[in-house]
Amino acid sequence: MAQKSRRPSPFTHPILFLFYLLQSLADRLLSPVPPNGRLHRPKVAIIGAGITGVSSAAHCVGHGFDVVMFEAGPEKNLGGIWSRVNNTSSLQIHSMMYRFHPSVKWDEAYPNRQRIVEQVRDLWERYGLRSKTKFNTRVDKVYQDDRGRWIVNNTANGHFEGVIAAIGTCGEPKMPQLPGMADYKGPVYHSSDLTGKPAKGKTMAVIGGGASAVEALEFAARAGASKVKILARSDKWIIPRNALCNVLLSLNVFGQETALSWIPEALLRRLFYRDLADLAPADKGIFTDTPMVNSDVMAKLRSGEAEWIKCEIERFTAKGVLVRRRGKDGKDEEIAADMVVMATGFARPQLSFLPETCFEAPYAPPNWYLQTFPPRHPSVSCINCTYRSAIGTVGNWHVGIYTRLLLMFLVDPLTRPSPFWMRRWIDMTRLLKRSSPVGAFDFFTYLELVWWFVFCVAFNPFRWKWALFVFLGIGYALPARVVEAEDKMCSEVGINGHADADVGLGF
Ligand SMILES: Cc1cc2nc3c(=O)[nH]c(=O)nc-3n(C[C@H](O)[C@H](O)[C@H](O)COP(=O)(O)OP(=O)(O)OC[C@H]3O[C@@H](n4cnc5c(N)ncnc54)[C@H](O)[C@@H]3O)c2cc1C
Ligand SMILES: NC(=O)c1ccc[n+]([C@@H]2O[C@H](COP(=O)([O-])OP(=O)(O)OC[C@H]3O[C@@H](n4cnc5c(N)ncnc54)[C@H](OP(=O)(O)O)[C@@H]3O)[C@@H](O)[C@H]2O)c1
Ligand SMILES: *[C@@H]1O[C@H](CO)[C@@H](O)[C@H](O)[C@H]1NC(C)=O
Ligand SMILES: *[C@@H]1O[C@H](CO)[C@@H](O)[C@H](O)[C@H]1NC(C)=O
Ligand SMILES: *[C@@H]1O[C@H](CO)[C@@H](O)[C@H](O)[C@H]1NC(C)=O
Ligand SMILES: *[C@@H]1O[C@H](CO)[C@@H](O)[C@H](O)[C@H]1NC(C)=O
Repeated sequence: MAQKSRRPSPFTHPILFLFYLLQSLADRLLSPVPPNGRLHRPKVAIIGAGITGVSSAAHCVGHGFDVVMFEAGPEKNLGGIWSRVNNTSSLQIHSMMYRFHPSVKWDEAYPNRQRIVEQVRDLWERYGLRSKTKFNTRVDKVYQDDRGRWIVNNTANGHFEGVIAAIGTCGEPKMPQLPGMADYKGPVYHSSDLTGKPAKGKTMAVIGGGASAVEALEFAARAGASKVKILARSDKWIIPRNALCNVLLSLNVFGQETALSWIPEALLRRLFYRDLADLAPADKGIFTDTPMVNSDVMAKLRSGEAEWIKCEIERFTAKGVLVRRRGKDGKDEEIAADMVVMATGFARPQLSFLPETCFEAPYAPPNWYLQTFPPRHPSVSCINCTYRSAIGTVGNWHVGIYTRLLLMFLVDPLTRPSPFWMRRWIDMTRLLKRSSPVGAFDFFTYLELVWWFVFCVAFNPFRWKWALFVFLGIGYALPARVVEAEDKMCSEVGINGHADADVGLGF
């Protein structure tokens, strides 16, 4: 498939070149062909035009399912959060793990946000999604008519057999009002709005200790700030930007702390934190929260360019921020700063447009079937927006798998799980993870996600014929033939094969 992308030279960049060849192979083998005719299979409503929305739409359309995408923002917001953060953001993980569609081809290891947004737009054009996207249309309400078809807002938008919500986890920048903020003489910026801000020779205080705080630190280095003080009220693990380390951690199939978790924790303290070992969280295991991925932080802390201060934020003063250090005898201390960056995160977009039947305790998100299907509605998949934290979320494969599971449920009622069995799966996962200090679905590892998928497909023999389709997106024609044969068999024995797309017949 033709696509704008520079081929790296095999002489100057042999590894990137190899990576490029592998991507071309994946594209040839796995990208469904963009449609050129009528799409006659069930219709899917897709909410949100970020990476997840665009790539799941491309998967649907590539397999002959029609879609309408609804995006709250204008067309320049195509690409979701990546279109809104300023130029200072880039991928933390290697782009090889962030191929959000098999036809995406990266030509660098850590692409910046412009490259990411370009790739999303290319994908959107390639799969003819322009004519299927409604911008400036926020979805307020999603409900079913008496035949079980989904209606988005009102019937003027048509009827849909399935719904994919892809509204992401990062909405508006969070700017908490802290006491004394008005007294502070210097400028205060949110971490997503740092592009072009003058920082040369300045002392910068960063409130917050997450991934955005680490990015603010990188911005400060590029902009020539003289000193950065990171004010963090809670601890997160930092792991090196090293693919092997990432992969090893994501191989913990249990998705929780185990009797062996002290080993990676001790190794990180010994080999990565070293003299800064007291920065590592003391009372929080590594398999409980998303770690930050960065190798340069430690060097910046050692050189004195930056200081990491574990503290409670008391209030702003005219010259900086008053904090109370943690650990020590709790003395107040004024941190002077010429500018303050609020790396305090983003508000979470709400799924409240879905019907109340999706939120029945104890099966409210993220405690859903495979984390994305509300137990009463297998025709709804909320991909990548019920997510809390994880290690090794690889950005391509799982969006495709979740989309194709939904497509399988839509066309083949025998594979569609009933609410009873969806709830039993959730109960089972909670039981397996009952000793985890955080909720069963609040943290997972990539291998655990793979185990969820394998279990789902292996558990119901009617899903076996779909395995290649679900995992790799190939072989749709074969299952389609098998489904027709099954339909015939069902009608002969009197099972209504074409029941409401939401009524699960399977397990
Ligand atoms: C600064 C920053 C850096 C990041 N870096 C990385 C990284 O390095 N690696 C990584 O793996 N992840 C990273 N992430 C995580 C990021 O969330 C994901 O990588 C990914 O971009 C999420 O895409 P998405 O499509 O699921 O959501 P989003 O990009 O948030 O898109 C959701 C879209 O839905 C729309 N929407 C929301 N509600 C409605 C509604 N009711 N009706 C209609 N439309 C609606 C929004 O307008 C938005 O366009 C980063 C996040 C941030 C904020
Ligand atoms: N390149 C990247 O990969 C990248 C870059 C940026 C962001 N992201 C992603 O984007 C998401 C958001 O990351 P983020 O770093 O912006 O947000 P975050 O992870 O939510 O971190 C926010 C930080 O601010 C602190 N904070 C919030 N409110 C505060 C207050 N009122 N007073 C003092 N401290 C306060 C939080 O402390 P508590 O923990 O105590 O609440 C936390 O340390 C994450 O999923 C992250 O992975 C990724
Ligand atoms: C980036 O920063 C500029 C200047 O501060 C601001 O006007 C703009 O809205 C920001 N966002 C994007 C996506 O450019
Ligand atoms: C839903 O209705 C609101 C107003 O009630 C409107 O702003 C929005 O664009 C509508 N969305 C869709 C998808 O029709
Ligand atoms: C951000 O990137 C865009 C695209 O490359 C560029 O045109 C713009 O000037 C950059 N903005 C800043 C403030 O660097
Ligand atoms: C899903 O969301 C999480 C957190 O927002 C992110 O780390 C991950 O990369 C996302 N995956 C994709 C395909 O966008």
